[in-house]
Amino acid sequence: MAKKLIAALTDSSLFLREWLVNPQRTGAVTPSSPKLAAAMARWLPSDPESYVLELGPGTGAVTQALIEHGLREERLVAIENNPKLARRLRQRFPRAHIITGDAWHLDVLLRQHDEPIESVGAVISSLPLLNFPAAEADTLAEKIRAILEHGGKWVQYSYHLGNGHHKSATRFHRLASKIVWLNLPPARVNVYQK
Ligand SMILES: C[S@@+](CC[C@H](N)C(=O)[O-])C[C@H]1O[C@@H](n2cnc3c(N)ncnc32)[C@H](O)[C@@H]1O
Repeated sequence: MAKKLIAALTDSSLFLREWLVNPQRTGAVTPSSPKLAAAMARWLPSDPESYVLELGPGTGAVTQALIEHGLREERLVAIENNPKLARRLRQRFPRAHIITGDAWHLDVLLRQHDEPIESVGAVISSLPLLNFPAAEADTLAEKIRAILEHGGKWVQYSYHLGNGHHKSATRFHRLASKIVWLNLPPARVNVYQK
């Protein structure tokens, strides 16, 4: 219990420091709450052999929930562009594939990986998409579509609580959408299906 609390405090202070350095890209002052992380993690693919791609894992709040929901670390590929956060993730999840890089290069990064990855069953994204120009968000949505298996899911949270369809997701079918109030700030989780 004490160990868990110390780890959570360490992660929160690391996150806050990175937010102070780059608020736009870090996108939040504190890691996601266990409630938000669980709301994202419940959309794992049914095939345990499918890879799951996490974008913007930060200090690993959502990653931890994915593992607790049954994802094997070996089947997790995560792309984080902040090297300090990526280092922390490698310590926490030594068997997962943690890539330091830009999520917008996901196609190249997955192709060039030691174990090239052609497709994934789900993309779990915490990227602060609203902080990016619309054209960039559209480009990312297309890359996510291309890497997803047929029927695969893109799970994306946002601090924008309105119920509108995410503009970049118009080529997906929206499967579910819900607000998680127990988070700082509250967030909406949208689930899109290819
Ligand atoms: C809002 S935080 C979410 C962190 C964590 N998943 C959570 O929920 O607590 C967004 C994360 O996306 C990362 N990020 C921002 N732009 C990125 C990019 N272009 N490629 C990869 N990661 C990026 C940030 O460094 C940060 O760790």
